[in-house]
Amino acid sequence: MTTDRDETDRTPAVCDQIHVDLGERSYEVVIRDGLLDHVGEFLAPFQLGPDTVIVTNPVVKRHYGARVIRSLNAVGLKPIVLALPDGERTKSLKWVARVLNELLRRRYERKAWLVALGGGVVGDLAGFTASMYLRGIPFVQVPTTLVAQVDASIGGKTGVNHLLGKNLIGTFYQPKLVLIDPGALRTLSPREYRAGLAEVIKYGVIADAEFFEFLERGIAQILKLEPAALQRVIRTSCAIKAAVVAEDEREGDRRRILNFGHTVGHALETLGGYRRYTHGEAVAIGMVVAARLAERLGLADASVGMRIRALVERTGLPADLPPRSASALLRALRQDKKVQDRRIHFVLPDRIGHVVVRPVEEPEIRRVLAARQPSA
Ligand SMILES: NC(=O)c1ccc[n+]([C@@H]2O[C@H](COP(=O)([O-])OP(=O)(O)OC[C@H]3O[C@@H](n4cnc5c(N)ncnc54)[C@H](O)[C@@H]3O)[C@@H](O)[C@H]2O)c1
Ligand SMILES: [Zn+2]
Repeated sequence: MTTDRDETDRTPAVCDQIHVDLGERSYEVVIRDGLLDHVGEFLAPFQLGPDTVIVTNPVVKRHYGARVIRSLNAVGLKPIVLALPDGERTKSLKWVARVLNELLRRRYERKAWLVALGGGVVGDLAGFTASMYLRGIPFVQVPTTLVAQVDASIGGKTGVNHLLGKNLIGTFYQPKLVLIDPGALRTLSPREYRAGLAEVIKYGVIADAEFFEFLERGIAQILKLEPAALQRVIRTSCAIKAAVVAEDEREGDRRRILNFGHTVGHALETLGGYRRYTHGEAVAIGMVVAARLAERLGLADASVGMRIRALVERTGLPADLPPRSASALLRALRQDKKVQDRRIHFVLPDRIGHVVVRPVEEPEIRRVLAARQPSA
């Protein structure tokens, strides 16, 4: 029998593998178009127990559930599927409890394992649940959004939200494996895709000037999800995240560079009640602001900020702060957890491909927040 799938299987897809080096908690990140049909093969060597639970949501289940189940069936596994409601609000203790109840009701033992199939919401929640059930069962990340593929699925930060704030309850708990199928992004909304590209741009600025140049050259192809360009986007982003995490698993100093754009980004999210901007949009504005701050402090020349702004705009992400937002933003910044000794810490690019972390005095911040922003 010939199916479309057999056709694609004959074209050798590029397969990249990145090692996340964390001693006995090390694992591989595999990136390959069509991987959703091969999840079972990649898991078979782990000889995990027969009790397999796919944690997902109805949207992702509809698109990809059958393919993943088929691939698990092919290696003799009969997973159950828990499709939790779509959306950030599901990332809560209530839904963790429901998943735990389900595992307990079925009397699943320590050899049971979870497959997180979905975006960052599913991944964070499933990882957190896995870290707690019987003091920890293995779990695997199968991320299906760009945010999850280049960021949330790697590094072992798991958790849920609380009424008092995002991600306040969580653990560090690494997956056994991360399986990334770039093809899954074809069903993602353009807005969610661009949100992931904000984090991708971030990686270029903080760690890799050549990658940033590649993004500048290739943004048109990347926005069209051209496979070769997309593969490189994901591979390089994952490699940078993996390297930073390997140096600093539990968020000491080194991992803080991943917060580039996030200081102002988080403040914008808080002010907008998490509705006005996606996380990626807020980070995009935050990166432009941080670059202007770096220029104002004499750390970077104007071209750094201009290039970041231009790439952000060509990606279709916002670059400008909402008008008259300076005072409210400053208040939100003061409440951010990165405030130490009443000074606000920023990740500042001194050139493309390199950042420094520095406390910045409030008057400097206010000046940059209040200034009219030049366009590139
Ligand atoms: N753990 C970490 O290190 C880390 C890092 C970054 C973000 N996060 C967390 O991740 C969450 C955001 O993740 P996200 O942006 O993936 O959001 P999400 O999980 O809510 O997914 C976004 C939307 O895309 C849909 N979707 C997912 N895959 C799809 C596909 N292939 N096709 C069509 N639709 C699809 C989802 O149903 C959802 O509606 C936040 O809770 C954030 O705190 C965690
Ligand atoms: Zn982020």
